Amino acid sequence: MIINLIIVLVLAVILLTIWLNFRHNDVKWSDRKIDIAKLDFPRDFLWGAATSAYQVEGACDQNDWSVWERSFAENANPRIKGGQKPGLAADHWNRYRNDIDLLRQMGGNAYRFSVEWSKVCPGPGVWDRRVIDHYIEKCAYLNENGAKPFVTLHHFTIPAWLFERGGFEHPDSVNYFSDFVYKMAEALGPYVDYWATINEPAVYAMMGWVRGIFPPGKQDPGLAARVLNNLLKAHFQAYHAIHETDQSDADGDGVPCKVGIVKNITIFDPARKWWLPDWVGAKILHHLFNQSVLEAFLTDRFAFNLKNIVNFSQKIPGLSDTLDWIGLNYYTQYLCKPDRKSDFKIKMYPSQKAAQTDMGWAVYPAGLYRALQMIRLPGVPIYITENGIATEDETLRQDFILKHVEAIREAMLDSCDVRGYFYRSLLDNFEWVEGFDKRFGLYHVDFETQKRTLKDGAQIYKEIIHARGHKK
Ligand code: BGC
Repeated sequence: MIINLIIVLVLAVILLTIWLNFRHNDVKWSDRKIDIAKLDFPRDFLWGAATSAYQVEGACDQNDWSVWERSFAENANPRIKGGQKPGLAADHWNRYRNDIDLLRQMGGNAYRFSVEWSKVCPGPGVWDRRVIDHYIEKCAYLNENGAKPFVTLHHFTIPAWLFERGGFEHPDSVNYFSDFVYKMAEALGPYVDYWATINEPAVYAMMGWVRGIFPPGKQDPGLAARVLNNLLKAHFQAYHAIHETDQSDADGDGVPCKVGIVKNITIFDPARKWWLPDWVGAKILHHLFNQSVLEAFLTDRFAFNLKNIVNFSQKIPGLSDTLDWIGLNYYTQYLCKPDRKSDFKIKMYPSQKAAQTDMGWAVYPAGLYRALQMIRLPGVPIYITENGIATEDETLRQDFILKHVEAIREAMLDSCDVRGYFYRSLLDNFEWVEGFDKRFGLYHVDFETQKRTLKDGAQIYKEIIHARGHKK
């Protein structure tokens, strides 16, 4: 009897292993030569580049990151590599006209950037008119020069005064954010049709409240869930605030505003395809980073669960009606396996078979195809709001851009409704805790002289755009 049971168990394990090994979690991807002329994209597809205020503008000295720059971890190390501070960063605040010209010279017809909440609103209820006018001028300049502004309202930073009050941990943050959104929609509405409410809510919550390497540097998954829930509520209110306020059709397509959220998708795969615990690890991370937010937009319920660690579920009625488009930020894939010492007890690491970026991320273009399939929601167009590579190897950058653009085309042929692509970053920038060393830019920036130079690896992006007939 016992022997029979053992035989059945062993057979079951063997069968499971074989089944797992053949379970399809990848897409067939051939490394063929790509002919730029034959990459067929619709004429109105947007070709752009992205930045964010803290990373390029300079003089962001009233937000939570300016506090973070001056603080130290428990081991006495500075929070940012080598104690670097962004200072003037790429001085985009003063040089935005030149930078927009640089984008236009590549043929780019859309620009994603963020407005710095702490500059617009340096104290509760205090609005800086000079800053608001600056952003109005920037959006006007974009329109005059044939580039659509895509404005992000929250890109990882909050005003220092709100940071002191608990930031997005605190439910009041939702109303503070919506006051800011009303102000921006009122001021920029005549120039802007595309609004992104929140950049990468799950990454923001994980970095600040699970890994503890972004402000406020906590490690508490329960709080991370609350923060994420508040961010989704903030999105909900912002969506309605913009629709109420922005009634002017800036680009003449008959629609005054289109509001979306920007979602990062990371591909999590089992390290060993034949080993069930690795599949479980990948699935857990996929739930926490990717699915929890996407499902909230399908079900009006935000659920963030991990056995014995966090169990959060709350309804956000009407959330599923708040996406006119969705932004996808895609960078990489991680392999996963159980590991007691890692966050959530799952180790994630890049495949050694792939080329790696200076961030230590695997280059995995098939992942963009998979991410696009994952993020599609019924009737919601997709913009790729970020994709790019930190490298000093310009052949690798060229290859990266070409292969990722091809992956988009493949996804579109398989009925993904993709409307635009933004390479990130337009310029080398201040890469959060990594500081200035990781160079993502299409343009190299000499941070001493602020000189910009188009990188060799970025030429291909220009060629792709020009081949589609878009020239300055
Ligand atoms: C963020 C960018 C960041 C990039 C690369 C994304 O999470 O939106 O601001 O620079 O990843 O780290």
